[in-house]
Amino acid sequence: MSDQMVFDDLLHEEREFPPLAAFAEKAALRDESLHRAGAADPVKFWEEQARELEWFAPWKQVLEWNPPHAKWFTGARINISHNCLDRHLKTWRRNKAAIIWEGENYEFRTLTYQQLHVEVCKFANAMKALGVTKGTRVALYMPMIPEAAVAMLACARIGAIHSIVFGGFSPESLSDRINDAQAELLITADGGWRRGNIVALKNEADKALETCPSIKNVIIVKRGHADTFHLKVKEGRDHWYHRIMDGASSDCPAEQLDAEDPLYILYTSGTTGKPKGIVHTTGGYSVGTYVTSKYVFDIRDEDVYWCTADVGWVTGHSYIVYGPLQCGATILMYEGAPNHPENDRFWEIIARHRVSIFYTAPTAIRAFMKWGDHLPAKHDLSSLRLLGSVGEPINPEAWMWYHEHIGRGNCPIVDTWWQTETGAIMITTLPGVNTTKPGYAGIAFPGIQATILDEQGKEVTQGSGLLAITHPWPSMLRTIWGDDERYVNTYFSKWDKSVYFPGDGAKRDDKGNFMILGRVDDVLNVSGHRIGTMEVESALVDHPLVVEAAVVGRKHDLKGQAIVAFVTLKSGAMMNREVIAELKQHVVTKIGAIARPEDIILAADLPKTRSGKIMRRLLRDIAEGRALGDTTTLADPSVVEMVREQYEEKYGD
Ligand code: PRX
Repeated sequence: MSDQMVFDDLLHEEREFPPLAAFAEKAALRDESLHRAGAADPVKFWEEQARELEWFAPWKQVLEWNPPHAKWFTGARINISHNCLDRHLKTWRRNKAAIIWEGENYEFRTLTYQQLHVEVCKFANAMKALGVTKGTRVALYMPMIPEAAVAMLACARIGAIHSIVFGGFSPESLSDRINDAQAELLITADGGWRRGNIVALKNEADKALETCPSIKNVIIVKRGHADTFHLKVKEGRDHWYHRIMDGASSDCPAEQLDAEDPLYILYTSGTTGKPKGIVHTTGGYSVGTYVTSKYVFDIRDEDVYWCTADVGWVTGHSYIVYGPLQCGATILMYEGAPNHPENDRFWEIIARHRVSIFYTAPTAIRAFMKWGDHLPAKHDLSSLRLLGSVGEPINPEAWMWYHEHIGRGNCPIVDTWWQTETGAIMITTLPGVNTTKPGYAGIAFPGIQATILDEQGKEVTQGSGLLAITHPWPSMLRTIWGDDERYVNTYFSKWDKSVYFPGDGAKRDDKGNFMILGRVDDVLNVSGHRIGTMEVESALVDHPLVVEAAVVGRKHDLKGQAIVAFVTLKSGAMMNREVIAELKQHVVTKIGAIARPEDIILAADLPKTRSGKIMRRLLRDIAEGRALGDTTTLADPSVVEMVREQYEEKYGD
């Protein structure tokens, strides 16, 4: 388990934070009744929760479970765009702010539920006019602007399946994802601001589109940078958002979708070079994101809720857009970087908009710690009442800093464990109910059944093992787009085919709180972003100088993990500073900046088993300066010593 060492120092965490009385008094949930109901009968529990949403037709059956395939709320008709918008229009919330947006350059926009509804309906009609219908795949490559949410909700409204590609991914990554899903429409923007620079999304998209024959139309949102980039508009294919919106009707009743109709595809990294298109469906995902938003974030009407994720990641899907809007929340959306123009931008935003719920990632918290206590201290953060963490394990030091310097001791912290595949939060504390321990995510959310198993499927009661989910849940992925076999093999073949294998290591304390220990497979978590080692390796061997590459993660104070690549070069090629820079850039060009290796190490050879498999485990030991694990299966044990010497020559102290 690669991350085991990282957490060794946490094993004796004893600090406990029971629910704060002032918070619990007003919390939506103050006792364990939901946990009990979920444990007694998860199916009945989810059925009861589902009744809070509006359905066009009721379900015939709550769960059809043919392991490992689940169907939830079969026969029912629903639309998540309707539950995010229309449901609220019938109440006073019609004129409540749905989205408060702040651009990096201090532009501001607010859309009420009514206004958002009009935008979504018009855009849905505009897409229909371009031939988009139920089931059409629509790719999004967008900055963090309200139109990203509009596009998502408009797709959901007509049953088109969106596939959002994070704006930091390279054209090649975008093209791969478009082609895998056979998307027919791409929605992008002329640009977006990031740390004082403009990211020219449309120009990047144009490079991708050279190899995307399925794309028939492109819609470009004018963020205001078209002139800067000599943006090209391809006649017949490219359409400006504001032009097609101009004449569009705002009358677009939500399509009455089957609960199991796909809602979206979101690509995520796995253990092979090819990202997986995770498929979420409509009914179960609506229920899962709604219920978790309601209870984990305890969302109230007067809250201003801010999740700092990008819509390109699952957190942006479930906890910027779909979950909070189904709750009728006011969400804050910020376009840019946390350190622009200064390192206290986030605190400035919280003070300006009186944000009350703040959900971010440990990697950001560690950066804030480094930037200094004086920065949050300068701002009025008294509006905050709840803090959240997601994406990677939060180390107790960062937890305590978050608690003291941002929450000022008055805010519960919910550490939420979940994944692209799970759709919604699975393990956490509920802020008015459970006692929190820094470094521990908490217990299973009501209706979720989680445990720890060993390789053989035996329950682990002492020490660490593999996290397992033993009962299906409504927002679970249904398959991998176009590759159901991979779905079965990746997630339901470790043990019994009814048990979900998330790929994380975990341990439990005596009260049943889970501590998540990190990935046990070849997936890295760099700044909360999932990156497959094989993806980076494929990018490296694509370079003409590289013969072979092995990529591992090593502990990094800010990013959680950093990417270390061991490469062997073509004979005669020299490793020098220029080559290292070129290889790093090559990875950025192939995948995107998030995959840039921190270190590139020349290795004369790579440690392999007798069957030729690279032993990444040993390379991880080297990169983290640990004693080497078992080397008896190596074809040539001297290789690993050689690599270690090369590594220490470069990085040893
Ligand atoms: O390793 C776990 C880690 O992030 C992985 C899921 O990544 P992704 O699908 O990109 O979704 C991230 C946002 C939900 C998990 O397998 N992870 C996520 N949340 C936590 C976490 N690790 C520890 N604690 C968490 N709260």
